[in-house]
Amino acid sequence: MATLHIDDKAYQAAAGDNLLHACLSLGLDIPYFCWHPAMGSVGACRQCAVKELHGESDTRGRLVMACMTPVNDGARISIKDSEVAAFRASVIEWLMTNHPHDCPVCEEGGECHLQDMTLMTGHIYRRYRFTKRTFRNQYLGPFLTHEMNRCIACYRCVRFYRDYAGGRDFDVFAAHRNVYFGRHEDGVLENEFSGNLAEVCPTGVFDDKPFSEFFSRKWDLRSVPSVCIHCGLGCNTMPNERFGKVRRILNRYNGEVNGYFLCDRGRFGYGFVNDSTRERQPRLRRRRGEAAEPATKEEALRWLAWRLSRRTAIGIGSPRASLEANFALRTLVGAERFYLGVSETEQQLLALMLDIMRNGPARAASLKDAEAADAVLILGEDVPDTAPRLALSLRQAVRQKSFEIADKLKIPRWQDAGVREAARQQREGRSPLFVATPDVTRLDDVATRAVRATPGDIARLGIAVAHEIDPTAPAVRDLPEDVREPASEIAQALKNAKRPLVVAGFGCASAAVIQSAANVAWALCRSGRAAGLCLTTPECNSLGLGIMGGGALADAFKAVEDGSADTLIVLENDLYRRADRARVDRCLNAARHVVVLDHVMTDTGRRADLLLPAGTFAEADGTLVSSEGRAQRFFQILIPEGDIQESWRWLRDALHHAAGHSPEVNWSRMDDVTAACAEAVPTVAAISRAAPTAHFRVNGSKIPREPHRYSGRTAVDAAVTVHEPKPPDDPDTPFAFSMEGYYGPLPASLIPYFWAPSWNSVHALNKFQDDVGGPLRGGDPGIRLIEPPPDAAPRYFQDVPNAFVPRRGEWLILPLHEIFGSEELSRLAPAVAERVPAPYVALNPEDAASLRVTDDAIVSVNLGATTCRLPVRMRTALPSGVAAMVVGLSGSIGADLPAWGTVTAVNGANVEGPKP
Ligand code: SF4
Ligand code: SF4
Ligand code: FES
Repeated sequence: MATLHIDDKAYQAAAGDNLLHACLSLGLDIPYFCWHPAMGSVGACRQCAVKELHGESDTRGRLVMACMTPVNDGARISIKDSEVAAFRASVIEWLMTNHPHDCPVCEEGGECHLQDMTLMTGHIYRRYRFTKRTFRNQYLGPFLTHEMNRCIACYRCVRFYRDYAGGRDFDVFAAHRNVYFGRHEDGVLENEFSGNLAEVCPTGVFDDKPFSEFFSRKWDLRSVPSVCIHCGLGCNTMPNERFGKVRRILNRYNGEVNGYFLCDRGRFGYGFVNDSTRERQPRLRRRRGEAAEPATKEEALRWLAWRLSRRTAIGIGSPRASLEANFALRTLVGAERFYLGVSETEQQLLALMLDIMRNGPARAASLKDAEAADAVLILGEDVPDTAPRLALSLRQAVRQKSFEIADKLKIPRWQDAGVREAARQQREGRSPLFVATPDVTRLDDVATRAVRATPGDIARLGIAVAHEIDPTAPAVRDLPEDVREPASEIAQALKNAKRPLVVAGFGCASAAVIQSAANVAWALCRSGRAAGLCLTTPECNSLGLGIMGGGALADAFKAVEDGSADTLIVLENDLYRRADRARVDRCLNAARHVVVLDHVMTDTGRRADLLLPAGTFAEADGTLVSSEGRAQRFFQILIPEGDIQESWRWLRDALHHAAGHSPEVNWSRMDDVTAACAEAVPTVAAISRAAPTAHFRVNGSKIPREPHRYSGRTAVDAAVTVHEPKPPDDPDTPFAFSMEGYYGPLPASLIPYFWAPSWNSVHALNKFQDDVGGPLRGGDPGIRLIEPPPDAAPRYFQDVPNAFVPRRGEWLILPLHEIFGSEELSRLAPAVAERVPAPYVALNPEDAASLRVTDDAIVSVNLGATTCRLPVRMRTALPSGVAAMVVGLSGSIGADLPAWGTVTAVNGANVEGPKP
């Protein structure tokens, strides 16, 4: 630590840090634009000037940029000095000469960093009286608006998009005095992290497009802490509500998980919640053969209670429902009649993954750990499409080498441009990243080596790498020379690393690939490296469901078909995505009664005799377990319309109707369900500590979801009633639907919005961290449920798959993933739907030639009992003898992949979905 004198007061700060970072961490305000805690300093905007003084007697000093000046022990600086204050005011004045000053119509108004900094510097009056420079705005796709006139040329957008996120279709263009930030022509921004520009840009150049349509001021938006539900990573979010609709999703900082950034699937995937066609009332089929009709809540519960009283019901849970909802269903039907609502393959992979995490020596890496890894091996996982935010972390991991180079050259790590340039000048300026997948990935551009192979061959590569690292690990006896060479290169790079990381997951749906990843990580642990292991899961609570445990989906089908169950209760799950259509049809036809709880209409919901409208993540509270094993709580933001309520409440009500008041299920609020779940399932006992209970109070009151200046609540419902209705009580959480606002200290898991005096933008977050960019004050949200046992020793998986040999007339059909389209709920959001590709089958050009088909030709894919007709897309990298289909785009296809099937050319036929 160093002693730093700021305006004649002594402070302690980390030596070598930059002055801006140090001052902000000390709670002092210095205006800035181009600096960002995750992206470092470039000194572009000249806004953060301070005066550096040489000794106590120095009265003149010199102006320096705080973001570009290191903290030295004994240094003296002044923030308040009148000359430096005048300099900062003049900087913002010229930055704003061309700014349109259109705050009243700007979506960013009221939460704009430029507004905050303008006030902070004291630039109050505009003196520029001449014509302003104007630009033509671009169409950038469904996620972002573009209003270039508001730009102050801080360069943050281009640094984020190109340098940080690896995008290539966005840049800065300059001619004379015109500097333009955009694409070379109108078009959709390709990078899957583009939505972050709405938060990264300090002005209103890039705004959230769906939000822009009905924008509200920050102080008029209700907000809560939440968790993204669109993949297994559990990024922290803040949904904002106005007029009964989710208006946008903001990033909620969690230093261990998502940090400052979300992916576009997570940011824009909420649209299904606002869908006007959602069922808001139970629907009941009163007679066989008739359509299900709207029913009252009472009628629905009475109907269900009668079926439950016969004790022949079974329940199918869901990886996209909370632990509490799954536990309520398990309690309703009994643990032995509760089945996991995932395919058999997925169930086995979950069990395998849990075994590896619980009993192996490698620790499950958080996203922050992934970012700090100095060598990475990805086995079988198309990370940008299956776990997008992890891909952004891995893109930063390859920069670890550049930091080592910078350290040697004595360039501070926060000197972003210097560090990048130093690395560029070295032949090996990047840390090693190896990608072994069946097809290309969007991380290949930073990969040391990309290997294309089938899942079996990828597993063989992993096993060979593990054997190279630790000769006691099983070997691949018949390893060809062209695999031996990359295997030893990868092993050497991992062995040379201090923090190696192995990434695998559900992408290839292959147990062998996951086992080989474990072997590599364990071999590294055995040789003394602190290796991390990142195993991705497909859905927001896949791991939680796996931990809870239950029967296989196939056993549930069997129980219905053999008559041992006559009522099937399906929780937040579309079975047609889990198993082949004919199989699900057979089960649903055999069931006497089908009950479905869900928030969107699905093919399974259409078959329900009773459909109960369940609350989405926005209308319910609950706990989700991420792939890291982190239990995190999400809270309700919307007051549900009609009869919509949390799944666990429907199930509790059903139980009470069936058995009268059940003493074992004495649940009146969500904490009761969480506590009962923690008690019944010891492996999740810690979930009660994921966030404080509903009893938590600040100054004797609940935490308001609405900020201080929330306005117009009396007018919001004026069309319905001029008498302001009492906001509903919320017995389940420490939050109230009230507008008193609260900005004092809170546990990190309960912070509903970031705001501090003079800080209205997302940068108010600085005031919630002791060290800017570090953990939230009091610790980052969530609680890890699984840690490796201290004495765990590797017990290597011994099975070695056979090398892939193409078959004549048959194709190995593999699952592919698309960031927009493979996930069930986000693809229903209108903005995301625009980015979902049409279903297709990917073929290697040689294989396509053997079928005499070209791009877009229709082929028939036959997978056992299912066939479908799809257009061909050429993928030059796919191994020969392999076809690939996108999971989630064509019904159930994907649930049972990989599998052998046939692909045949169909001349002149139309595209058709899967048919039994
Ligand atoms: S568009 Fe925004 S982020 Fe980009 S340079 Fe301009 S003000 Fe900065
Ligand atoms: S990476 Fe996953 S959890 Fe994170 S924002 Fe994207 S979809 Fe959501
Ligand atoms: S923040 Fe220091 S120069 Fe821009």
